[in-house]
Amino acid sequence: MIDLLQMQKAMILAHLREGDTAVDFTMGNGNDTLFLSRTVGETGKVYAFDIQEKALESTAAHLKEQGAPENYTLLLASHDRVREFVHEPIKAGMFNLGYLPGSGHKEITTMRKTTMPAVEAALDLLAPDGVLLVAVYPGHEEGTLEGEMLDAYFATLDRKQICVTKIRIVNSPSSPFFFVCEKK
Ligand SMILES: C[S@@+](CC[C@H](N)C(=O)[O-])C[C@H]1O[C@@H](n2cnc3c(N)ncnc32)[C@H](O)[C@@H]1O
Repeated sequence: MIDLLQMQKAMILAHLREGDTAVDFTMGNGNDTLFLSRTVGETGKVYAFDIQEKALESTAAHLKEQGAPENYTLLLASHDRVREFVHEPIKAGMFNLGYLPGSGHKEITTMRKTTMPAVEAALDLLAPDGVLLVAVYPGHEEGTLEGEMLDAYFATLDRKQICVTKIRIVNSPSSPFFFVCEKK
């Protein structure tokens, strides 16, 4: 059976190398930050964003426990402010939309009004041969609406500059799905 998380990682690994710069736009408990940090290694850089102090604490502890290379900057800021903090092209970006797992605060979730400008800024920051992965959780109302918004937006992009692929389980419509945006 296809494992969506493994597939997401494989898509990132097709583009991201040691020494590159990457951004985790939704840090949460730091699982994606750890993956990016290990992939780019000591000579690379990772920026990670979240709006919850709790996410930063949990991620900092996780990265330390796992012995991640000290190549990361954890930012308590909304991801649509990425341009204030990241001033160089990035080789990979990850969005895992939704709310912080295990926090009990399902109301603190990613929202269309900030997700849209953040995704646009992320695409602008992508280096040639860079990749942006956006995972959507349609199991709640805002998640469904984010998915619809992104579907419509990605369909307008010029295929010669950015190729967008969607991976979705057709016979499980409430399961998470993701977009892979690859820059030429
Ligand atoms: C599904 S979780 C991310 C999971 C995470 N990538 C991991 O590996 O554990 C979504 C996270 O996005 C955060 N978030 C919500 N709105 C945000 C925003 N505007 N900017 C940055 N992070 C945001 C939430 O606080 C939550 O921690």
